[in-house]
Amino acid sequence: MPELVFQILSFDSLPSTNVEAASRAVDGAPEGLCVVASEQTAGRGRLQRQWVSPKGAGLYCSIILRPQFDQSLWPLLTLMAAVAVQGALLDVYDLETDIKWPNDILVNDKKLCGILAETVDTPLGRSVILGIGVNLKHNSYSAELDGVATSVEVAAGRSEDPQIVLEALVGLLARYYAMLQRSGGSEEIVREWSRRSSYANGRRIRVANGDQILEGTTRGLEQDGALRIETDTGKIQTIRAGDVTAVRTIASQSW
Ligand code: BTN
Repeated sequence: MPELVFQILSFDSLPSTNVEAASRAVDGAPEGLCVVASEQTAGRGRLQRQWVSPKGAGLYCSIILRPQFDQSLWPLLTLMAAVAVQGALLDVYDLETDIKWPNDILVNDKKLCGILAETVDTPLGRSVILGIGVNLKHNSYSAELDGVATSVEVAAGRSEDPQIVLEALVGLLARYYAMLQRSGGSEEIVREWSRRSSYANGRRIRVANGDQILEGTTRGLEQDGALRIETDTGKIQTIRAGDVTAVRTIASQSW
């Protein structure tokens, strides 16, 4: 499978790069179109949240994908994107990061990047809009998120032009997207993700999905990227949606 060539389309300001990319996908834009904006006035996060996107403070981009493999495996696209973002931050800033299931990039348990994948029906078939937001400068998130969010500037001590991160990112996305599409590719992406995430195995977590709360210890991923959790009754539950938080365990002491 040849690597996808990304075409970058830059804007000064947009309501949301995801919305712009979706509308272009409906109009027939090709796979690989990457919409970038210096600011978003109505940036979208997961679970209907807002993604604050001040001018020049972050990387805000959305990529059109038209995957030809089974839709049951499309959740792997966001895991793939997380692996690519993590690689780009390592290459450009020498910054080591963690991945919280399914695709938040963290430093010291604080969020540095979020990924929002949305599907859109187009005349060329159902497409995926892969939206990626990386906090580059300290002002990329609001002050009340200080305890849970961070930026490349804070974590790495520097944050160059978003263009440099974008170039590294699309290079890695091309590589991992080609990997995902070849035979055995889904296993490879699950392996790559699991190698890079402290959440893959043995992590005590709580998952909130609507009114439902589940607590347990992570036990690896299913082949479609779903997270396996062992609950306190020893039962394995498979999670396909929800908000994960780490649960701090107090080390038990024996005297
Ligand atoms: C999350 O809540 O973790 C996902 C955040 C995704 C934000 C990015 S910024 C670029 C793209 N355009 C949007 O409106 N959202 C995504």
